[in-house]
Amino acid sequence: MRLFIAINLPPELRRRLWEAAEPLRSAGYPVRWVAPDGIHLTLKFLGEVAPDREPQVVAAIGVAVQGARSFTLPVSGFGVFPSLSRPRVVWAGCEPVPALELLQHRVEQEMERLGFPLEGRAFHPHLTLGRAQREARAGAFRDLGERMDGLAFTGELLVESLDLMESQLARDGARYTRRHAARLAS
Ligand code: 2AM
Repeated sequence: MRLFIAINLPPELRRRLWEAAEPLRSAGYPVRWVAPDGIHLTLKFLGEVAPDREPQVVAAIGVAVQGARSFTLPVSGFGVFPSLSRPRVVWAGCEPVPALELLQHRVEQEMERLGFPLEGRAFHPHLTLGRAQREARAGAFRDLGERMDGLAFTGELLVESLDLMESQLARDGARYTRRHAARLAS
């Protein structure tokens, strides 16, 4: 099974984000947009994991959240990875508040103990809204930056749990299912 560890959004924030990004969708960029219920903040992508290892992963997430309290995460603005001239991912930004960075660090640590490779790249917390189609030409995104700058979005995400998610790849995009929720202390 293909697993990752993520923070999920309440329906209201998903809806607001989806609405705020409407001008980007209607501009017709060659982007596969993530359906509102698929929007999440990934802390760690585990990849293919044998089903009998799931209890180990769940236990390690439990250790990672030990002593962590729920916190508020500011969400604002839109951006792309890796560059506006050749975007691959269109996202909404999350502020890297200390509580989030600490949690991500703890997750990395515990997953490394289980043998999952450490992430080589810096952690840039984001909510993926869409992924550029593979065959998209760079010129197709010419005015994307200006369009994003013209959008205002701010929101707050109350982080109360860290979720173990399964991703099932399908023709029309990935389907995500929550397999376990590790609650943070209130
Ligand atoms: P992304 O949002 O930046 O695309 C499920 O696939 C989640 O795991 C996505 O949110 C994706 O991040 C993240 N992820 C990180 N590394 C990945 C990888 N190598 N392959 C697929 N997804 C990855």
